Amino acid sequence: MTGDAPSPPFLPAGPAGSVREGIGKAFTIAGRRIAVFRHEGRLYALDDGCTHGAASLAFGSLRDGCVACPWHYGEFDLATGEPRSLPVYQGVKTYPVREVDGIIEVCVPEGPADDPGD
Ligand code: FES
Repeated sequence: MTGDAPSPPFLPAGPAGSVREGIGKAFTIAGRRIAVFRHEGRLYALDDGCTHGAASLAFGSLRDGCVACPWHYGEFDLATGEPRSLPVYQGVKTYPVREVDGIIEVCVPEGPADDPGD
């Protein structure tokens, strides 16, 4: 037996067809609002709330591996959640995401959401 903590579970978000290429979709998973994107064939999952205001990143536009917030166009890297352009300077949390048997699953830790960018 090892002392490793168990990994958080992958939880179902919704049908794979509900996330189309280039168009974000927000899901509530384990009490967290998470935006899922399909960009250039890959899935990404990030906290949905922009760190600059109350905008939903799921309504943002995708370009060059980033999502641009729909309100003031601050950009976040889809893979890392790091801020890529002002006015955002604080990143968002990202989550492992996969597609299994036609269902999108996101690996979400139990408990309250961490601070953005952790
Ligand atoms: S609310 Fe997102 S950049 Fe301002």
